[in-house]
Formats: sequence, C-alpha cells, structure tokens
Amino acid sequence: MPEFTPRVFSGIQPSGGLTLGNYLGAMKRFVELQNAGTHETVYCIVDLHAITVWQDPAELAKATRELCAGYIASGIDPEQSVLFHQSKVAEHVQLAWIFNCVARMGWMQRMTQFKDKAGKNAENASLGLFAYPALMAADILVYHATHVPVGEDQKQHLELTRDIAVKFNHDFEVEFFPVTESVIEGAATRVMSLRDGSKKMSKSDQSDMSRINMTDSADAIAKKIRKARTDPEPLPSDLAGLDGRPEARNLVNIFAALADSAPEAVIKDYAGQQFSAFKPALADLAVSRLSPISAEMARLMEDPAEIDRILDRGAERARAIAAPILKRTYEIAGMVG
Ligand code: TYM
Repeated sequence: MPEFTPRVFSGIQPSGGLTLGNYLGAMKRFVELQNAGTHETVYCIVDLHAITVWQDPAELAKATRELCAGYIASGIDPEQSVLFHQSKVAEHVQLAWIFNCVARMGWMQRMTQFKDKAGKNAENASLGLFAYPALMAADILVYHATHVPVGEDQKQHLELTRDIAVKFNHDFEVEFFPVTESVIEGAATRVMSLRDGSKKMSKSDQSDMSRINMTDSADAIAKKIRKARTDPEPLPSDLAGLDGRPEARNLVNIFAALADSAPEAVIKDYAGQQFSAFKPALADLAVSRLSPISAEMARLMEDPAEIDRILDRGAERARAIAAPILKRTYEIAGMVG
C-alpha cells in the first residue's frame, strides 16, 4: 500500500438537534483530534444523509446552520479543520454511485441500522436509506481518510467502508483506497437513554426526557439528570459492580467523559454513595460543560450569513482534496475523461 496522508474524516447528520450522545461520542472527540495536530481533520454536516428520511426543507436548512454553529462552539476551528456541508461537494455523490456498483446486495442487507430505522415498514423505506452506507463510504474515501472517529453505533458502517475499499482495489487491481481505521474511543462511545439503559440516547426517541440536547437550558439538564432512571443500590466500589446495572453504568460513563476522566476514577470518588448525591454532582458538571457551548451556538446563530460564508469556504477546501481523488477513481473505472 502507498503511504496515505494521515487524515481524519467524520460527519454528523443535521436532523433534529445535537444530543449529549453526539457530543460525547463524536464532537468532543473531533475537537481532541483536531487539537492533537497529528492529522488533517475534515468534518462534515451530512445533509444528504439526513434526507434518507423525510426532512422539512426549512427545518433542514436551519439544522444545517445550527450544526455548523455546534461544531464551532464545541471547539472546531474552521481554519484549522475543513468544515463544510455534504451537498456542496458533489464529489461525494459521484463517488457513491461507483460504490453502489461495488457494494453487494448481501452486504447492504446485513446493515442493522437499516433494519432498525426501516422497522416493520421496510417496503416503504426510501431507496436512499438502504443505499446510505455506500454514500457514507464515499464521504470517507473521497478524502482518502485514514481515520474515522465515531460512536459505537457506526462500527458496522465502517466495516462496510473497508470492504468497499478492499473490493474496489481488488477488482481494479490498484492500491488506490486506504483501508480506513475506525476510532471508537473514550468513556462514552455509546451513551444510553436516560429512561432506559438498554437503548441508545437518540434524537429520534419519542421522549425528550430520554436525552440531553445541546440546546437544553441549565434547568432542563438538571431536571433530566435528576429524573434519570437508576436502581436503588448505592454506587459500587469497582467497575465490575456496574455489571447488570446499565443505567448506573451510563451515568458513570457520562460523568467520566464530561470530566475528561475515566469510569474507574469516577467510581473511586463516588464509591458507596447514593444517586441522591451523585446526580446533583453530575448535573453541575454537565451544566458547566454544556451551557457555554449552547450560549456560543445561540450567539453564532444570530449571524447566519457568516455561517454560510464559513460553510462555502469549507466546501472549497474540501473540493480541493476530493476532486483529484474522484477524477482518478473515474479514470481507474474506465470513464473517458
Ligand atoms: P449520526 O448523525 O447519527 O451521529 C453522529 C455521531 O454521533 C455518534 N452518536 C453517539 N455516540 C455515542 N452515544 C450515542 N448515543 C450516540 N448517538 C450518536 C455517532 O456514532 C456518530 O459518530 N452515518 C453517520 C453520519 C455519517 C458519517 C459519515 C460518520 C455520514 N457519513 C462518514 C462518519 C464518517 C450518522 O448517522 O451519525
């Protein structure tokens, strides 16, 4: 394999608002990788993914700008990282078509997220929802990204991305696409619902009490944590004591991720304590970390024209990387130039 430039790519859908799961599992990690300075970092607002389920157009536009504000408020520097929205860089969809022809039906049919999202009504799901993971592979590989930070729920899609890269390289007898590494690290790779420790925290959950939104007020955050489901036992003295206690484990993981600490350290500090003591400490920590971000998001949203300028400039920089890679892909596949 040739040497690829160390490059991080990741994306978030502008559907609904950002949740604490998105922040801890993805956004916060994106900022850490940007600041580590070891990789080029490319971060995307994946609006074309969002429309695989119905989106009100005005809401989508607002959510796109709000997510851009969320990236910046969380610490993404649009000069240091490339920050843009997917629909502005046509190379993503152009490469996705090639990948639709590389990926096999059997691979796509195994994708659990499609099954979860389409539910019992799969016949009525959009073709886009089914093809979505091939577009995701294109998002990543059109930048020759080597590392992709995501939450646990995206792992299968990243394995598919690797399969697509390997099959393309094999079929065309090239070493053109890198076999991307997923980066699923930290205390909060799978933040669970505050109402049910067996379900992922998600923007699509019916109950707003199940999640913390990045735009929630301090009072709302405190209330949701106070009301989070737990069990009657005090916190254990070691991690093994969290086995079979998914709600307790979730709150400990959230605490650790917000505090830039580790679950072991949190357990040590709170061993033997009741949730009546732990929850207020967690609420204070969450408010102190999240409120400055939501305040900054609100400030940035007052100037949507500036957000659009940032996104346009980001798209130009993204295209400068993607266009030559797409051009070479089409040549490899035999498209007359
Ligand atoms: P999306 O928009 O659902 O979520 C964005 C990121 O947030 C992570 N995440 C979580 N992490 C921990 N706990 C949770 N409860 C939680 N909920 C969400 C997700 O794992 C993700 O990292 N298909 C992607 C978007 C995408 C993408 C890409 C990602 C499109 N193209 C290319 C990486 C590379 C998605 O729907 O993420």
